[in-house]
Order: sequence, then structure tokens, then C-alpha cells
Amino acid sequence: MSDESNSGDCALTADESTVERSTVPMWIVVFTLILLFVGGIYFDRHSGWFNPQVYGSFSSAEQLEAYQPKSGAAAARAHGKVVYEAVCGICHGLDGRGKPGQAPALAGSEWVLTKGINRLAHIPLQGVSGVIRVEGQDWNLNMAAMGAALPDEDLAGVLSYIRSAWGNQAGTVTADDIKKIRAEMGKSVQPMSGQQIMSLPD
Ligand code: HEC
Repeated sequence: MSDESNSGDCALTADESTVERSTVPMWIVVFTLILLFVGGIYFDRHSGWFNPQVYGSFSSAEQLEAYQPKSGAAAARAHGKVVYEAVCGICHGLDGRGKPGQAPALAGSEWVLTKGINRLAHIPLQGVSGVIRVEGQDWNLNMAAMGAALPDEDLAGVLSYIRSAWGNQAGTVTADDIKKIRAEMGKSVQPMSGQQIMSLPD
């Protein structure tokens, strides 16, 4: 590399750069803008590295509710569903529609959709035997005291669940309600017929 060729190069570069520096080529400007735009969209779509559960928008009210910490009545019903499916569903069906020859329906049943919960609570606490009319149909089977061994919270949850599932709409049952009814029941835990249940206060 000689001095001469160096100085020649420099002169050339200096000449060229004065021309080049005057404007940034249009394609770089456009390309940069497109890159920013696409990058922005990508960033937005992919939650920008944040957890989508925190950053993402909710697509439905149900989805939003599913993320809410459950408390009170909602928690009791959710817990009750689990207990129902383990303890009662085998006879009354997971859909609450009952099974012919096995158990009557709970969906739409007048024994479930009561105003007070005293009679209803006695059913799983004492059992049912003999004739019971459910939604216009007589049943004459037996149900053991399926809820007698459940803790107050579990039975309250089950009853709250069956009063609110499958289109049923009736009030919640609390563990305190069950506790009170149990205390009043004393030791008399004979299965009852429909008529005997009706003789109890609502
Ligand atoms: C082994 C089967 C079986 C299981 C398990 C069972 N039941 Fe029953 N249940 C019956 C039968 C049978 C009757 C009707 C009894 C009769 O004909 O005298 C009945 C009646 C009822 C009734 C009144 C009638 C109606 O359909 O509304 C309620 C309420 C009820 N059961 C709730 C429950 C709950 C709550 C549980 C779980 C804690 C449960 N049952 C578990 C068989 C069962």
C-alpha cells in the first residue's frame, strides 16, 4: 500500500460520502418503518414477554371469572360439585336427572328447590325410604343417610350445588345451617318417607 494510492482512496471516499450523506436511501427508511410496525404487532400479539394471564385481554366473562379467586358461595358450590360427583352422582346422575329404577331427579325437584333448607338437609342426613313423590312421579326405593358422614362444609357445599346446578335456582346452604340442623336432630336418624319429611318445618 503506497501513500499515493492511500491518498487517492481518501479523496474518492470523501467525494462519495459528501454525496451519500445528503439523503438516507428511501428503502432503508421504509424498511425500518415496516420493521417497527411488524415488531410492534408481534410484541403486542405475544404479550410482550409478560405472562398472558396478566397482560392479555380476556375473551369472555367466563374466562375472567375463572381467574378470580373463589370465595364464599361460589367456592362452596365449586367444592360441592366435587363432593356431589363423588358421593351422590352415581345414583342421581352427573346431570342431576336421576336414573330410572335407581334414583329420582334433583334437577327441578320440589325437594331440592325448597324455600327453607330444613327438609332438604334431613334427606341426606337421615335417608329416605318408602314412597316419595318427585315431579309428579312416585318412587318407592331407599336412600341411606348418604350425607351423615360428610363434614358440615361438604354437605352444605353439596346442597348449595344441587340448588344451583342444572337450571335449579335456590339459595345457598351454609355449614352453620347444617351444624344447627344436626344439633336439633339429636340421635333420631331413621330414614323417612316423603310424608314424614313434609311434616318437618320447611
Ligand atoms: C345409592 C344411591 C343414592 C345415592 C348415592 C344418593 N341418593 Fe338421594 N336418593 C336415592 C333414592 C333411591 C331416592 C328416593 C328414595 C325413595 O324412593 O324413598 C333418593 C332421594 C333423594 C332426594 C329427594 C328426592 C329428589 O329427587 O329430590 C334428595 C334431595 C336426594 N336424594 C339427595 C341426595 C344427595 C344430596 C346425595 C349425596 C349426598 C344423594 N342423594 C345420594 C338414591 C341415592
